Amino acid sequence: MTVNILFAAKPASWAAYETPLKTALHEAGVSADLRRDFAPAEVDYIVYAPDSTVQDFTPYTRCKAVLNLWAGVENVVGNTTLTQPLARMVDHGLTQGMLEWVTGRVLRHHLGMDAHIHGLQGRWDKHVPPLAEDRPVTILGMGALGSACARALAGLGFDVTGWSRSAHDVEGVRCLHGDAGLAQALSTAEIAVLLLPLTAATQNLLNADRLAQMPRGAVILNPGRGALIDDDALLAALDSGQIGHATLDVFRVEPLPGDHPFWAHPSVTVTPHLASETRPTSASRVIAENVRRGEAGEPFVHLVDRKLGY
Ligand SMILES: NC(=O)c1ccc[n+]([C@@H]2O[C@H](COP(=O)([O-])OP(=O)(O)OC[C@H]3O[C@@H](n4cnc5c(N)ncnc54)[C@H](OP(=O)(O)O)[C@@H]3O)[C@@H](O)[C@H]2O)c1
Repeated sequence: MTVNILFAAKPASWAAYETPLKTALHEAGVSADLRRDFAPAEVDYIVYAPDSTVQDFTPYTRCKAVLNLWAGVENVVGNTTLTQPLARMVDHGLTQGMLEWVTGRVLRHHLGMDAHIHGLQGRWDKHVPPLAEDRPVTILGMGALGSACARALAGLGFDVTGWSRSAHDVEGVRCLHGDAGLAQALSTAEIAVLLLPLTAATQNLLNADRLAQMPRGAVILNPGRGALIDDDALLAALDSGQIGHATLDVFRVEPLPGDHPFWAHPSVTVTPHLASETRPTSASRVIAENVRRGEAGEPFVHLVDRKLGY
């Protein structure tokens, strides 16, 4: 039987995804009609991006699952018209891209590369960094992305602590959870990486109190979501030297408005939400596998817990 799959993402994504999705569905043994337009009542699955024009799921009465192309679901998880299962994206390309963004920026700050890139201006200023094993790095969020980054950094020898909602066990990583775990994880975080989803429980997680719990001069890397950090508290902590530097990939408003103080702050590096992109070839295989599962009566993978919001 042929399943009808609606591609509901920005038109520009269609060019990138049409061929990889059709190939992956074929390879998964799924006979599919993949299109950008269907009568809603004929749709079996929706391949979805939250910036799609589809915001009312009520007419999609036959739809068995909404398969998100993005890892973050904060813009769709609260949609009360969505009663179907929602799967988020867990993709090799997304994970590897994030691992590269994070390790590159951890090494930048660990090694103090900026001093040499900006130039020592004739001073033979030989500052030897500690070895990685003497550099505590904390990863907030130990999911698909955070745990891969934690493993990679531990593999480079860093002293890695991971923090999550529930208990985890990752070889070579000190795994903490809950409120007490957060205080402990922040107290040693010379470099902190935010890889939490944006939910009611994580919004403004890094507020003035928590920033004050970090070692003086700590570095923050935020490829998670902008609203995980209280912007004003971060700016105050940067100005006072409590936080030494922040590399921010994600913001409350994107693109980051031109007059936002982050752009000009000497201790902030802005990257334009590029830490990690969903890669069409590998992501299409993930989508196709979930369609295959749906058709075979097997449970979907990477389902979002609607109560937890991620
Ligand atoms: N900048 C970019 O280009 C980019 C790209 C992709 C993703 N992202 C962001 O990265 C985020 C993480 O992605 P992922 O795939 O790793 O997500 P994930 O697999 O769902 O992992 C989320 C992690 O956060 C933890 N967590 C959630 N709520 C928490 C809370 N209240 N307290 C403590 N820990 C909490 C979870 O704990 P448990 O393990 O206990 O459940 C889990 O370890 C996405 O939501 C998205 O916002 C950014």
